Amino acid sequence: MRIKIAGTGSYAPEHVVTNEDLAGIVDTSDEWIKSRTGISQRRISDGIGTSGMAVKASERALANAGMKAEEIQLILLATSTPDCHFPSGACQVQGELGAVHAAAYDISAACSGFLFALNTAYSFIISGFYRNVLVIGADCLSKVVDWSDRSTCVLFGDGAGAAVVTGEAGGQGGDFGKPCVEQGSGCVPGASGILHMIMGADGWKGPVLSCESRTVGNFLTGTKPEMGYLSMDGQEVFKFAVKKMPEVIEQLLEESGMKLEQVKYLVLHQANYRISESIAKRLKISMERIPMNISRYGNTSAGSVPLLLDELNREGKLKEGDLLVLAGFGAGLTWGAALIRW
Ligand code: UT7
Repeated sequence: MRIKIAGTGSYAPEHVVTNEDLAGIVDTSDEWIKSRTGISQRRISDGIGTSGMAVKASERALANAGMKAEEIQLILLATSTPDCHFPSGACQVQGELGAVHAAAYDISAACSGFLFALNTAYSFIISGFYRNVLVIGADCLSKVVDWSDRSTCVLFGDGAGAAVVTGEAGGQGGDFGKPCVEQGSGCVPGASGILHMIMGADGWKGPVLSCESRTVGNFLTGTKPEMGYLSMDGQEVFKFAVKKMPEVIEQLLEESGMKLEQVKYLVLHQANYRISESIAKRLKISMERIPMNISRYGNTSAGSVPLLLDELNREGKLKEGDLLVLAGFGAGLTWGAALIRW
């Protein structure tokens, strides 16, 4: 069984907010933002919500895969900023797309969300439960950012990315129920598609990046719901990312019996250019193998990895047989990685 990404799509709102625009709101500068993060501008919702962006990205992914919405059996929307508590964002997407045969639900793992959803899709397909799964990462963090807090508001943007993940019977990589990587034995030789995945979480570190629930209303005390905003200990997240990402990538490759030299691109969560540079340094690889689009979008949370993957796909940079590592980290704290032969 070969489990592959059959098509990708992405969407970001048209409204561009530059660093200069933000310098008019908070005490910051283009120079500070660019030199500390690599961000020049970000897209901010002009009314479209998380599900709206997810629908647009999904339509493009379905078109890219040459598949109809009716063929999808499961929709997974990774987001931490759904438009409402219920129905889930995934159900809203299902309705808009007309994916009449699909079950749908959201997955919450912040910026690692797309990788968690991809792993869930992989597991459903390998088990024989579903064949075609639509995996989406979408976030509208502009809704939860405190626009008076310069230490966070300059970092984030809104955006979505999607991938159609399909299982093909036969081919190399084992049968239903047989993952490509079996414990301790590396990857099935010649296998393609999604070869291996890793997920992890460290709930003790939750407070370093959080957004308090907006539903703190309480019947007994009469407390009314209040707005919660994203808050972050930037340096702690930075330290975590530059340590954890190289570890996870090395673990992923080791368990797959692959070497970093064989990997064409590391498609990393776009959080900060300097984080990616540190990862490159620790892994002793050139930044040419770590594509970046953070300068144009900022950190789009669950949207970041699939948005970048879609750009690479559409630019024709992904050739059949290319080995890719997708990896991300985020609130939770969480992390995830995938090894894919395109
Ligand atoms: O998806 C995961 C999400 N989060 C992340 O990945 C965040 C990871 N962390 C980071 O990217 C970095 O820690 C930041 C970009 C958030 C901050 O960069 P830093 O180099 O760690 O800066 P800092 O927090 O040490 O702040 C340095 C100075 C401080 O001033 P003082 O105390 O030295 O006078 C800040 O008040 O920069 C100040 N500062 C700013 N100045 C201008 C903080 N934000 C800004 C700003 N503009 N926007």
